[in-house]
Amino acid sequence: MKKIFALLALAGVANLSVAAEVVGNAANARAKVEMCIGCHGIPGYKATFPEVYQVPKLGGQSAKYIESALKAYQKGERKHPTMQGIAASLTEQDIADVAAYYSQQK
Ligand code: HEC
Repeated sequence: MKKIFALLALAGVANLSVAAEVVGNAANARAKVEMCIGCHGIPGYKATFPEVYQVPKLGGQSAKYIESALKAYQKGERKHPTMQGIAASLTEQDIADVAAYYSQQK
């Protein structure tokens, strides 16, 4: 099941087909995490610019934690201007995909 889903995702058709239920798909996240990498480092790794500020490591954190953190930035419950802006640009599906992706990193 997972394999098929990943193949569909690679073919670019899964995006529309899962509108009913938001299920995180790590394979779908690759393009989406490109904009995270500059700050959160290589996936699964740590801060790229520690001399500017400490950026939390995302790889290996639980999907639930990443999801709730991003939603908290969206709602303004967590206050960090950059992350609020970034979270605001993500859809619920994007968040689920990104959370799945990072939770599978070691
Ligand atoms: C411009 C730099 C920058 C970019 C780009 C960026 N982040 Fe962040 N991110 C940060 C910083 C700095 C923090 C810590 C903010 C704080 O203290 O609340 C953070 C925090 C987070 C957290 C909370 C982590 C924790 O342990 O509490 C998550 C989740 C997160 N970012 C996800 C993402 C995702 C997903 C992307 C890409 C879609 C992304 N970030 C892009 C700088 C960035």
